[in-house]
Order: sequence, then C-alpha cells, then structure tokens
Amino acid sequence: MSSPKAPFKHISTELTQLGRNPHEQAGFVNTPIYRGSTVVYKTVDDIKHSRARFSYGTDGTPTIANLEDAWTTLSGAAGTVLSPSGLGSIALALLAMVKAGDHILVTDSVYRPTRQFCANMLSRFGVETTYYDPLIGIGIERLIRPNTTVIFLESPGSQSFEVQDVPGICSVAKKHGVKTIIDNTWATPLFFRAHEHGCDLSLEAGTKYLGGHSDLLLGLISANAETWPALRTTYDSMSMLPGAEDCFLALRGLRTMHIRLKEAEKRGLDIAHWLQERPEVSTVLHPAFPECPGHNFWKRDFTGSSGVFSIVLDKKYTPRGVAAMLDHLQIFSMGYSWGGFESLIIPFDCSTYRTVTTWNPGGLTLRLQIGLEDPDDLKADLDAGLSRLRKES
Ligand SMILES: Cc1ncc(COP(=O)(O)O)c(C=O)c1O
Repeated sequence: MSSPKAPFKHISTELTQLGRNPHEQAGFVNTPIYRGSTVVYKTVDDIKHSRARFSYGTDGTPTIANLEDAWTTLSGAAGTVLSPSGLGSIALALLAMVKAGDHILVTDSVYRPTRQFCANMLSRFGVETTYYDPLIGIGIERLIRPNTTVIFLESPGSQSFEVQDVPGICSVAKKHGVKTIIDNTWATPLFFRAHEHGCDLSLEAGTKYLGGHSDLLLGLISANAETWPALRTTYDSMSMLPGAEDCFLALRGLRTMHIRLKEAEKRGLDIAHWLQERPEVSTVLHPAFPECPGHNFWKRDFTGSSGVFSIVLDKKYTPRGVAAMLDHLQIFSMGYSWGGFESLIIPFDCSTYRTVTTWNPGGLTLRLQIGLEDPDDLKADLDAGLSRLRKES
C-alpha cells in the first residue's frame, strides 16, 4: 500500500508520487505486479482477528490498492473502486445506487452502451429510466419523482459534446436526496473536479487517458464520503476486479497523464481551429469553442480540454464523400476509442438513438481524437481527405 502523502502544490508532482512506496518494495520505484488468490496467515490468532490487509484475492492486492489510493487522492474523494472496463464501472456505479421500483434520470447525450445497460439490465430489475436534455440545467427538478434515486450525467457528451451545468444539477439532486453519478472520462479529474462540483460518484474509463496507449481496459469509480460505503459494499459483493497487469499499466500511465493531457489539449485545439477555417466544416463541437452547446459551463467549471471533439460537415457532403475521405487516410485510423497516442476518426449519428432531444446538426458528423503525431502531418492527412470528400460528394 502506498503511504499517504501530503497534497503537493502541483498536480504533476502529485502524479509522480501517488500510489507507490519504494521502501516497501525493496527500493524499486514502481509498485510490483501482485497476482494471487490465496493469502496466508502466520497464526491461528491472526486468522481469528483478521490481521491482514487482504484476506483473499477478491479483497484486492497491493497493486490494486495503490491505484485505488492514488485515484482517491487525485479525485479528492473518500474512496475508489476499480472495474475491468469503463462500461463495467458504469454498471457497478448504477447497481450500487438503485433498487427495484426506482426511477433514474439519464442524459440523452450519454455513451450509448450506458443507455443499453439501462434498457437491457436495469429495466429487468424494475428500475425505470427517463432521459433528459443535457442542457436542462436546474430545470431537471421538474423531472424528479418521489421514487427518483439517481441522476446520471456525462459532461461533455462524448460524441455530441454538450457541456452540462453539473453544479446546478447536483444542487437540485441534493435538495431531493437524489444521488448523482457522472461519467467524467473526457475531462478526467485533472480538468474537471467532479466531487468538488457536487457529484456523489465520478467514473472514468481508465481505458482512455489514464492508460494512454490503447492497450488496456479499466474503469475507476471514486465516491464522496457519504456514498462510499454503498459503493464499496456493492463492489465487494460482486468482485469484478481488473487484472494485475492492467492496474500496473494504469499506475504507469498516471505518471505521464498530466503531460499527455496538456499535449492532447494543445494539439486538439490546434487541429480544431484549423478545421474551423475549412469551408467543408460548418461547426466544430469542441467544449472550448463558443458555438459548442454549454460552452459557458465549460468555461466556468473546467480547467482544460482534452483532445477529443467532433465536427459537422457542410450539408452538401454525402456519405459517399465521407467514405472516400475516411477510407484512404494515412495517419488517422477509424476506431471507437480515444485517449491513446494515435489519432482516430469516426463517423457518428446520434439521431438513431436519442429519445428526448433531436440530433439534427445540419450535416454529417465526425469525431476526432488527436494523438501525438506531428500536427502538420495530421493536417496534411485531413487536407487530402477533405479534398476526396469534395470530389466524391
Ligand atoms: C464516455 C465513455 N465512457 C465510458 C466508456 C467505456 O469504456 P470502456 O471501453 O473501458 O468500457 C467509453 C468508451 O468508449 C466512453 O467513451
């Protein structure tokens, strides 16, 4: 276990210190990979009095505990539990907060598999879901029913990028004794302090910026003091643990997360501004841009932007043109993830699954994840792609 450290003034320093204790690890600087199920005790008396940090592998290991502790400190939380994927952490957070007969409110901009979890799983256990406009703000109060127990937020929405009034929604939730869960994957605790803004649970797909190299799946949920016991009890009941190697990679990712995110921010903004000037692009949906819905909340509440954003193409362009553009890109690949070192681009269409808001951006839409390639090379790749778009549309 890592020893508690005084908070450091700068986050980059904190990230180098958290979740490791070299002097408990024969002087080696990184937490070793602990694998194991069985934990042995020295004496009957030790067993009788449960004198062990871990009683069995499902309790965790020092590798897991170091990552949990680091994330708790980083998030300003009371505790953290891990999951084998981001989606696993969404499921766990919801299961920790609901019971049969409850009603929950979920943003219409939510990551689509979250919607599927509500439809396919929660509904089977008698939990009803109502979707709400991500820009509803404190108007959410009118949707709260006597049996509403959870408001689920995702800010910004990870395809359409509406930024939510998180403090406003959380203050309404608190007034009604409703728990708030936020998917904070885009901003991470480095750019958005979810608990300080009122959220009870904050989850992160560590698969993205924490891992940073597209080689692991991981979820993390941090909780405030009031919500922590319920979260930990549910976690202990289910024992859905990530693998030791993935936790090790996440701890390694933590060391460079700040520098990678700052770089993603810089490069993301550079490419987004470049795209904004292009005649083929009608709108850039980037939280740091004034035309992005909820931009003012981003300005008020966030301390940065990561490198994922969307664009709306001019209405004259066709799916055939988009295919010609994307099929022949040299550096950008097409893939449903982000937060890694490599640039990605995907076409998307929220109109097929939104239920309370209409997605009609006025043209075809693409989401970009900007990686660590040279921005000039990325622009050249996009430039060639946009000229194919023009020719083939
Ligand atoms: C916003 C958001 N939350 C959660 C997840 C789920 O993460 P994972 O792929 O680790 O299940 C994703 C994955 O794309 C995501 O985009």
